[in-house]
Amino acid sequence: MDPIRNPYAPGAGQRPPELAGRDEQLRAFDVVLERVARGRPERSLVLTGLRGVGKTVLLNALRSQAVRKGWGTGKLEARPDQHLRRPLSSALHQAVRELAHPETDQSDHVLGVLRAFAQREAGPQAKLRDQWSPGIDVPAARGRADSGDIEIDLVELLTDVGGLAADLGKGVGVFLDEMQDLGPDDVSALCAACHEISQTGLPVIVVGAGLPHLPAVLSASKSYSERLFSYQRIDRLDRAEADRALTAPAGEEEATFTDDALTAMYDATGGYPYFVQAYGKTVWDVAPRSPITVDDVAVAAPEAERELAVGFFGSRFERATPGEREYLHAMADAAGDEVDAVGSVPTADVAAVLGKKPQSLSPARDSLLKKGLIYSGERGRIAFTVPHFGRFLRSR
Ligand SMILES: Nc1ncnc2c1ncn2[C@@H]1O[C@H](COP(=O)(O)OP(=O)(O)O)[C@@H](O)[C@H]1O
Ligand SMILES: [Mg+2]
Repeated sequence: MDPIRNPYAPGAGQRPPELAGRDEQLRAFDVVLERVARGRPERSLVLTGLRGVGKTVLLNALRSQAVRKGWGTGKLEARPDQHLRRPLSSALHQAVRELAHPETDQSDHVLGVLRAFAQREAGPQAKLRDQWSPGIDVPAARGRADSGDIEIDLVELLTDVGGLAADLGKGVGVFLDEMQDLGPDDVSALCAACHEISQTGLPVIVVGAGLPHLPAVLSASKSYSERLFSYQRIDRLDRAEADRALTAPAGEEEATFTDDALTAMYDATGGYPYFVQAYGKTVWDVAPRSPITVDDVAVAAPEAERELAVGFFGSRFERATPGEREYLHAMADAAGDEVDAVGSVPTADVAAVLGKKPQSLSPARDSLLKKGLIYSGERGRIAFTVPHFGRFLRSR
């Protein structure tokens, strides 16, 4: 069929033509926004799930929802080797601009605090050229959010930004993707700041997204984090939702799928949103006409798998060193056909497959954890962060 009219959108963070199966989260977030804007206590939200289930896309949708309510919003993506200060400053700068407070005095004050917060990263003795300029043309405030202790500074900054929003009867939302990649100091400061802010009733919320072990990262840092955040597991779509993700966009283009084709699609994708988009895209291009049939799916499958092998699995596998790849393969072997169903394998089994002592494998495992290719949800067990990764490895 006409590739120009192909509606599907495989790719990290790509907005899907139909956001299927997330109505509950969108509705719940509406309530959160209303409550927070009225100064009611509400927990910050954290979305967790495997890669490709649609966390980033949902995070963006929640942000849009906040923007539609006139909130100030900003988004950032945590990186393993980066501190929170700068990206958070940029995100909050954006939020303050979106709030567009009519009294420039007040927003200028907050911008000055924001600048002080941002510049503090280089240290007070830093030469001018090492000082990062956040693009704020108001002079940095003094004595506010510039102590150098990220926790204190964060509380002061969020208090001022939240105050600005409260003035307007609005709120501020910080959307934080790949949250598991925050450094330990930043995690602890962020938890503490959320804790502090939530007690003041200021309209500020943090909405995070990250891999399945993110709750463990947060509670290891602060034991009260379980009460601080409301965790939402984002998972694959059920059959009806996956069907809707395919048929609604097709319908817009006056195309349909046969029932058998939809069954075959679900068998192949397991309802994982990334796979739904990848298969949808390929089968559309391959099918000669509507309705798309089960035969079209069969013809498209090898091509879809080839694209996934490069774009989804391969790009991640490339990041592993030879030793780490050996470890990944051993994981896939240890799990056997169970890997996608059970999800996790004992690290002892991986060592057994390789015929090595578990301790000798710690460096490879730790580095794979750090690269976000595997995660450990419970002690002594590990799992792939990428769905169907075991199957991919065994097919190589
Ligand atoms: N609810 C959904 N319905 C249909 N497609 C979706 C949905 N959520 C995500 N997708 C698609 O899945 C892919 C991965 O989404 P993304 O948000 O990047 O996942 P994650 O951040 O969890 O790795 C994208 O191509 C996106 O269009
Ligand atoms: Mg993502």
